[in-house]
Amino acid sequence: MYVQGCLLFCKNFMKFSLRRPSDKEFQSICDYIKEFELDNRDLKKEQFVLAAEGTQLLGFGRLRKHADCTELCSLGVVMPHRMKGIGKAIVQELLKGSSDAVFLVCIIPDFFTPLGFRVTEQFPTSIKDKITYCTQELVVPETYVAMVFQKP
Ligand SMILES: CC(C)(COP(=O)(O)OP(=O)(O)OC[C@H]1O[C@@H](n2cnc3c(N)ncnc32)[C@H](O)[C@@H]1OP(=O)(O)O)[C@@H](O)C(=O)NCCC(=O)NCCS
Repeated sequence: MYVQGCLLFCKNFMKFSLRRPSDKEFQSICDYIKEFELDNRDLKKEQFVLAAEGTQLLGFGRLRKHADCTELCSLGVVMPHRMKGIGKAIVQELLKGSSDAVFLVCIIPDFFTPLGFRVTEQFPTSIKDKITYCTQELVVPETYVAMVFQKP
C-alpha cells in the first residue's frame, strides 16, 4: 500500500491530504466519474488515491492493473478546486504506487508532460483497447494520445 496518508499544501495554501477513500468517499468518487464522463470500468476502492480537506472530497485518481501493464486513469478534481496543484499531487502520489512503467490515454498531454510522461506509439494491448474505448465511448473533439512514464 503506497498511500499512508500525507498532508500537503496547494497553491492557495489550503491544506489537503492524500489517502485511500472510505466506502462512502468511494461512492462519491463513482458519482464524480459519471459526472466528468471518465473511465468507469472495473472501479475498485483499493485502486484510488483521494485528495481531501477534512471530509471534503477535492479530487481522485487511480492505478488500474492490467495483465500487460499499469494504467493511470479516472483522474478528476472537483471544479472549484482546479488549478491549485491538486491534480498534479494526485498523479505524483499514484506514480509512487507502481514499480513499473505507467501508461495513460488522454487528451491533455500538456498536463502530463511536466509530470514525466511522454507521448508514445508503442503500447500494450490493454492501452490499445483503452484508445478504442475512449474514441468510441468517450467521444470528444480532441485527439486521444497514449503516454508512458518510465521509472528512472
Ligand atoms: C485535468 C485535471 C485533473 C487537472 O487537475 P488540477 O488540479 O486542476 O491541475 P493542477 O492544478 O494540479 O495543474 C498542474 C499544472 O498543470 C496545468 N494544467 C491544469 N489543467 C491543465 C489542462 N487541462 N491542460 C494542460 N495543463 C493543465 C496547470 O496550469 C499547472 O501548471 P503549473 O504547474 O505550470 O502551474 C482537472 O482539470 C480535471 O479534473 N479535469 C476534468 C477531468 C479530466 O479531464 N481528467 C483527466 C482525464 S485524462
